[in-house]
Amino acid sequence: MDNKLFALVDHYISERVAPEDEILKAVNTSIEKHGIPQISVSASQGKLLQVLAKLTKATKILELGTLAGYSTIWLARALPLGGKLITIEFSEKHARVAQENINKAKLQDLVDIRIGKALDILPQIENNKEGPFDLIFIDADKPPYLEYFDWAIKLARPGTLIIADNVIREGQVLDPDSTDDKVIGVHKLNESLRNHPKVFSTIIQTVGAKEHDGMVLALVE
Ligand code: SAH
Ligand code: DHB
Ligand code: MG
Repeated sequence: MDNKLFALVDHYISERVAPEDEILKAVNTSIEKHGIPQISVSASQGKLLQVLAKLTKATKILELGTLAGYSTIWLARALPLGGKLITIEFSEKHARVAQENINKAKLQDLVDIRIGKALDILPQIENNKEGPFDLIFIDADKPPYLEYFDWAIKLARPGTLIIADNVIREGQVLDPDSTDDKVIGVHKLNESLRNHPKVFSTIIQTVGAKEHDGMVLALVE
């Protein structure tokens, strides 16, 4: 894999169609400053999320896994006036840094960070009838990805787009003997998409500034 070329081309792309403004650059600085893992989506992937949010005319977005709010800010900026984004984050530290970044981006009225484990928060969102969501971005811990996907379907309507990040893991999903529970988790989701009764889907392979990986794009039927 020519990772250097992929990174250069990613830079070429983001320079043209996904430039980071001062706010997004400051999110990256906050990640370094607080020793938070550097696992946000790339700028070009953030722009892809925005294009997809606009395409689906999303007014209500649900995100699993906020980290420092980098993908959250890309997504929330694609919302129309009066739109809403709920993002779930387990780490109080990540949520605190994300809230600061979202405030700086002046998106605090659109974005609602829910602190806790996604599998505890999702039933609350259902009970409170906060759905259906127009776009759901799954990007929290990988082992329960299939459970997250099933929850996403429950909180969707026909036409909702479900996106799941990191489903290729540098091709480790090809290894049927993998003992990595992240790989096993995303592979289970990928397998479930064979003749899935409720979604029309594909998986895109991604290369660029980040590791070789992939995203599920699933349209709820
Ligand atoms: N979407 C972010 C990156 C998310 S990284 C971006 O692209 O900018 C994954 C995040 O999921 C981490 O912040 C991690 O703390 C959080 N997480 C891990 N386990 C979780 C769980 N069970 N419920 C909710 N969030 C979880
Ligand atoms: C990991 C998580 C992510 O969401 C990501 O985009 C890259 C890596 C991880 O937990 O390894
Ligand atoms: Mg990710």
